[in-house]
Amino acid sequence: MKITKAIIPVGGLGTRFLPATKAQPKEMLTLVDKPIIQYIVEEAQEAGIKDIIFVTSFSKRSIEDHFDRNFELEFRLAQKNRKAEIEQLKKINKLARFAFVRQSEPLGDGHAILSALPFVENDEAVAVFFGDDVITADQPVIKQLINNYEQYGNPVIGLRSVPKKEISRYGVIAGVKIDQKTWDISQLVEKPEPDKAPSNLAVVGRYILTNQVLSMIKNQKPDKSGEIRLADILSNYLKKGKLHGLQFDGQLYDCGNKLDFLIAQVEFGLKHQDLGRQFRDHLKKLRL
Ligand code: UTP
Repeated sequence: MKITKAIIPVGGLGTRFLPATKAQPKEMLTLVDKPIIQYIVEEAQEAGIKDIIFVTSFSKRSIEDHFDRNFELEFRLAQKNRKAEIEQLKKINKLARFAFVRQSEPLGDGHAILSALPFVENDEAVAVFFGDDVITADQPVIKQLINNYEQYGNPVIGLRSVPKKEISRYGVIAGVKIDQKTWDISQLVEKPEPDKAPSNLAVVGRYILTNQVLSMIKNQKPDKSGEIRLADILSNYLKKGKLHGLQFDGQLYDCGNKLDFLIAQVEFGLKHQDLGRQFRDHLKKLRL
């Protein structure tokens, strides 16, 4: 069955970005002039995703508004004859069909996916995006994962290599390489000490989850902190099923942490069609 549905959990608290995220979602922070979450939805649309289920929470209302029409704004812009802006706004609502489900409490990324499951068919595989990983690539990364799923039929997670000194920030895999970019995963280790990491391949917030994985979420027990985590669900699944990791082609910006977000700002600023040249000229003048 073709993958046309995505779940995007955006119910997290965004504590690493406080105070910016006290009253606004981190997913609505912008890279130059576009919210992080729109880059992710555009990636989904380019990969053929038609339906997107956002898992939201109390402070995420502006995400719903962003992907809805804003008739008053369109009306005011029409009065000023700002046709280009109107078209730009209308396109956002057409990127996919959107559904929003509330996660009653922030009980973990696995719990967020569980909240979306009533809207997924029993035998359906879905794409899952975490709401803060922006990836630039020639072919949308989720499409690269979908292609892998279509080739092998197994659930797939995105992987990238990270320097040893940063490895303890991530979930890391152990496994066997079965083609140029695909790993047959044997183990997932959360935030290992650099010397104990089984590889330098870290898990990135892009997944293709099959029914076999999704059906296990309902039975997953919370961890010590009370959260239901996707990493634990995948570790349990590994005891009986095959899980692939794909070293995708693309540049990742983990916009959930401040330094990567700043780096992304600069790089997206430099590439921006209208502002890039001026921004570059300005940066050159800085005495660093
Ligand atoms: P993160 O680990 O980035 O958590 O979640 P967070 O709460 O957003 O941010 P920090 O760590 O406190 O700064 C990964 C993804 O899972 C979602 C987040 O919104 C993010 O897209 N998530 C996490 C939920 O939807 N619900 C949760 O209970 C936890």
